[in-house]
Amino acid sequence: MNLESLKSQLAKYSQEHVLEYWDELSDEERQSLAAQIEDVDFETIATLVAGKDEKIDFETLAANAETPPSVRADGSGAKWSVDEARQRGEAALRAGEVGAILVAGGQGTRLGFDQPKGMFPIGPISNRTLFQIFADRLLAIGKKYGVAIPFYIMTSDATDAETRAYFQENNYLGMSPDDVRIFRQGTMPAVDAKTGKLLMASKSSLALSPDGHGGTVRALDRNGCLDDAKKRGVKCLSYFQVDNPLVNVCEPTLIGHHLLSGSEMTTQVIRKRYAMEKVGNIALAGGKVQVIEYSDLPQKAAEATDADGQLKLWAGSIGVHVIDVDFLCRASQSTSSLPFHRAQKKVPYLDANQNVVSPSEPNAVKFEKFIFDLLPSAKNAFVVEVLPSEGFAPVKNADGAENDTPKLAREAIVAQHRRWLEAAGASVAEGVKVEINPRFSLTPEELATKIPANLHIDADRYFEA
Ligand code: UTP
Repeated sequence: MNLESLKSQLAKYSQEHVLEYWDELSDEERQSLAAQIEDVDFETIATLVAGKDEKIDFETLAANAETPPSVRADGSGAKWSVDEARQRGEAALRAGEVGAILVAGGQGTRLGFDQPKGMFPIGPISNRTLFQIFADRLLAIGKKYGVAIPFYIMTSDATDAETRAYFQENNYLGMSPDDVRIFRQGTMPAVDAKTGKLLMASKSSLALSPDGHGGTVRALDRNGCLDDAKKRGVKCLSYFQVDNPLVNVCEPTLIGHHLLSGSEMTTQVIRKRYAMEKVGNIALAGGKVQVIEYSDLPQKAAEATDADGQLKLWAGSIGVHVIDVDFLCRASQSTSSLPFHRAQKKVPYLDANQNVVSPSEPNAVKFEKFIFDLLPSAKNAFVVEVLPSEGFAPVKNADGAENDTPKLAREAIVAQHRRWLEAAGASVAEGVKVEINPRFSLTPEELATKIPANLHIDADRYFEA
């Protein structure tokens, strides 16, 4: 570390204030602050603060937006059948060509849980954590297809240590440690919304936050995960977020749709309930599949319908994708593949009187990359609909909120498993909770082979592995 070169670097971008307390710091604190500063891409920050980064004209884009190439939940829209897709996906799984990437670096502020969100107990009867539910599913799929599915887990400074300790203390949740790779995403500094100056969290630390789920691309590459995937013969990754216990990780039909469409990135979506619903909208615009955030979507474009009177922009993003490893390798080498988005946030900071202030109003701008911004550069990007009841029950807010709560997610799990049991010939008494570990059964069809005929369930029941 060279103090003079740090100073001149900072002076070039008018950010010298971050060294204001340098003389008071211990050697260790100096080293850590210097490392943080060296990691900052000042040129990018300056461009973002000056608003000189490339801006997308969403109004024009949305005005010309069309329905993207897609297959509906009933299988319509594709040139192949659902059975063909499932068989294709199963062949890829059997050949060991599929891995899983979980993004678990978010700060989970809305849920207000003081550990990484993956450690949140969500099993309605089992109380299994989100991490356990995902690991059970990957183990079940691995067993079914005779392979070990590599599980890449992205953490951040906020979640890394506890996530690693959790996996170690819990025997990697039954997975082989060789198949679980935990890696940390990058950070971005928050800047003062009025001045563009980097905020300090303390005298020896910048106010840093994770660089968004789009940080996955660089972090996968930097941490050797893409090389590892290639070495294993993994061709595509099933991408998912930590907050969705219903997610169809490594689901054969979804993977089959991805492969049969020749797509480099396929995104699973739900059908919007109404035109202005607050979800990212998947659209075909300018010949490319892209996400238009609800906040950027003019009402007229949102309400546009096709010849059948259906919303053109019916597809809402749920953060579930299948992404080719080769495409991720390409994207990781291009600095322009993912733009930064800005968000006004409340960020605690060290003020001029050396007090750490927790602001009550947004005071800062944070910069984040979003993974779905890869879609426009993916060849043949494709969209696959899933019914929310079969694939989307996010845990975002604490119980008591109107939507996306743990209570609602648990109800969705019970409702899905009740449907599976009923489809398999069982009857379940009113008000009774049921939960099925994927290691007991992955599908209703498999369940039918495992339970006795005419099974009646009249008390809460967990079907264990
Ligand atoms: P959210 O957008 O819900 O953000 O993340 P969050 O930080 O988890 O929650 P809030 O907004 O503070 O309440 C969607 C998914 O992306 C991951 C999260 O862990 C979650 O799985 N994520 C988000 C990251 O891995 N890194 C990030 O920098 C941001």
